[in-house]
Amino acid sequence: MTPRKILVTSALPYANGSIHLGHLVEYIQTDIWVRFQKMQGHEVHYVCADDTHGTPIMLRAETEGITPEQLIARVWQEHTRDFDAFHVEFDHYGSTNSDENRFCAETIYLALRDKGLIEVRSIEQFYDPVKNMFLPDRFIKGECPKCHAQDQYGDNCEACGAAYAPIELINPYSAVSGAKPEMRHSDHYFFKLSADTCQDFLRDWTRSGTLQAEAANKMQEWLGTEGDNKLSDWDISRDAPYFGFEIPDAPGKYFYVWLDAPVGYMGSFRQLCNNSIGKQGSQPDFNEYWQPDSTTELYHFIGKDILYFHALFWPAMLEKAGFRTPTKLFAHGFLTVNGEKMSKSRGTFITARSYVDTIGNTEYLRYYYAAKINGTMEDLDLNLDDFVAKVNSDLIGKYINIASRCAGFIAKNFDGKLGETDSIASAEFKSAYLEGGIAHCYEQRDFARALREIMRLADVANQYIAEQKPWTLAKEAGQETKLHIVCSTALTLFRDLTLYLKPVLPVLAGQVEAFLNIAPLSWTGHWQALPAAHTINSYQHLATRLDPKLIAALTAANVESLKPATHSPARHAEAQQHTLTPIAETISLDDFSKIDLRVAKIINAEHVAGAAKLLKLTLDIGEENTRTVFAGIKSAYDPAQLKGRMTVMVANLAPRQMKFGLSEGMVLAASGEMPGLFILSPDDGAQPGMRIK
Ligand code: MSP
Ligand code: ZN
Repeated sequence: MTPRKILVTSALPYANGSIHLGHLVEYIQTDIWVRFQKMQGHEVHYVCADDTHGTPIMLRAETEGITPEQLIARVWQEHTRDFDAFHVEFDHYGSTNSDENRFCAETIYLALRDKGLIEVRSIEQFYDPVKNMFLPDRFIKGECPKCHAQDQYGDNCEACGAAYAPIELINPYSAVSGAKPEMRHSDHYFFKLSADTCQDFLRDWTRSGTLQAEAANKMQEWLGTEGDNKLSDWDISRDAPYFGFEIPDAPGKYFYVWLDAPVGYMGSFRQLCNNSIGKQGSQPDFNEYWQPDSTTELYHFIGKDILYFHALFWPAMLEKAGFRTPTKLFAHGFLTVNGEKMSKSRGTFITARSYVDTIGNTEYLRYYYAAKINGTMEDLDLNLDDFVAKVNSDLIGKYINIASRCAGFIAKNFDGKLGETDSIASAEFKSAYLEGGIAHCYEQRDFARALREIMRLADVANQYIAEQKPWTLAKEAGQETKLHIVCSTALTLFRDLTLYLKPVLPVLAGQVEAFLNIAPLSWTGHWQALPAAHTINSYQHLATRLDPKLIAALTAANVESLKPATHSPARHAEAQQHTLTPIAETISLDDFSKIDLRVAKIINAEHVAGAAKLLKLTLDIGEENTRTVFAGIKSAYDPAQLKGRMTVMVANLAPRQMKFGLSEGMVLAASGEMPGLFILSPDDGAQPGMRIK
């Protein structure tokens, strides 16, 4: 087999927000596909970057009192840390604000200009006379011309859904300064997408198998039929002040963020080529991947919301500037949580970080997403109860269980050495390995089908074990050889399942490889059973069941109104001036009443082995069950002293999974500049469970 040369991208996340579980549908999906292709022995480069330019990022940095460069540097750290935690393994993760990207954007622009495809036109646009800037539609607000709702955006009304031009708004005002905007003229640069040469090209390109059927139909609508040219020219410039790249021959004009964002795929890849020897030991050649007659493959994974940019603007830019066009676009649907749009007030707008902090194991989510991703543009639902059920019944109950039931006998009865295997039991597993089997499902991005097949095989393996009953064989005289065969066979099947799951569960697969004492699993070569006399390592616990309690903790941690405002500029200024803690921002009574404070009786207090600061408290707050709270008060209190005391706890704080167990609330204590920690007590007579208000 000659290895394919494949360049894969995911859409570049905006550098002004946190990665959330919606984003991860895309990045996990791409990562699984990339890992699969690498396991097939192909040369694959997976690149991505932060999308750093544009007005929102510029204004956000301003509110935070930092430069856009500082903002994007910080967000880059956060994003890469989050991707890392979910084992999304890029070969390079760059930034659109790089020299390489500037170079690529300028090259494309100049090539388009030289072809006569750039036109300068004066347009009228709202201008903020206080901020001295032109206002993007989203930064103009006013009264809806249709339903007269107040404070609607410049492009559409959230109350009645009407779409309109900003100029139609009644009493428009700038969302940046509040000033009344003025109409002003300015020269803008346009990419002439309306030119026949562009529309003809796009009609062919979008029909040539580059898009999923549903996407191709959408494009047909946007493009119209021949002669009926529907596309208008694309405005690719913005006026200063703007955070972005200045257009080379137009001082004071900047590339619109959506021009240099897809170019960021090239820019990031260019960095990979320039920087380092690629991770697979061979340094890719930029031109080989981007020249017009390239034989390499280029795939973009994107959400359906940005199809327009990727299926029209981007291929037209590439084609007309003399580069290759994408081999295929893989568009996916949107994430819903419990059947509804992600919502900040319901706590289902779940950030990647909060998942890591509460649930911990990120491969559980990878598994669940994989079980739902089928390569179409349908939306995908994260049902939180189903999530727990699937992880526990399939991943732990079916897959992990195989090893945990058989490994012990090999260690105890056979000194860690495997024996012969039963080839009849392995036959189905072997055929799943072959072309047309599980690999085919992965290749087609139908991970759901791959996982259904893998779980069916897990059932076969479990049934084999249930029939052979190794635990009975172990007790019977003269069944040694049979026991040896059954367990060795089961572990071979377990090895196979691990191989099939490895694109989805790379870390777990690594642990299994270590346990089985085998080389990294890959899809190259022939299928073989684990050899007799091969020594395996002793079985270490591989994964634990997912505690349903953690789900409540996860959504609670994401309920917007309870999160502190971390980036308000006032806070930053204060932090530098005071050494004593200043009084916090004023809150309303409503805000306060969200905190459910209760009188609690400490019915037990004890030290926690290995914890330097914590005491474990058992609290009675008048409910049927007691609460466990880990409180950082060890330095100030002897557990014996606390037993029987009344205190105050926050009863509706999101539970937090700590190294030592789940903490289900917080006990209040005072501390200041002086040493010492003082827990609170209510006056005599207060009963456990009474609310403090
Ligand atoms: N910066 C642009 C992309 C530029 S690509 C040259 C952007 N950024 S984004 O942060 O809003 O989204 C990044 C990717 O995540 C997009 O493909 C988007 O469709 C995807 N998703 C964002 N929210 C999503 C869900 N709720 N569900 C599934 N995917 C989602 O768009
Ligand atoms: Zn309206």
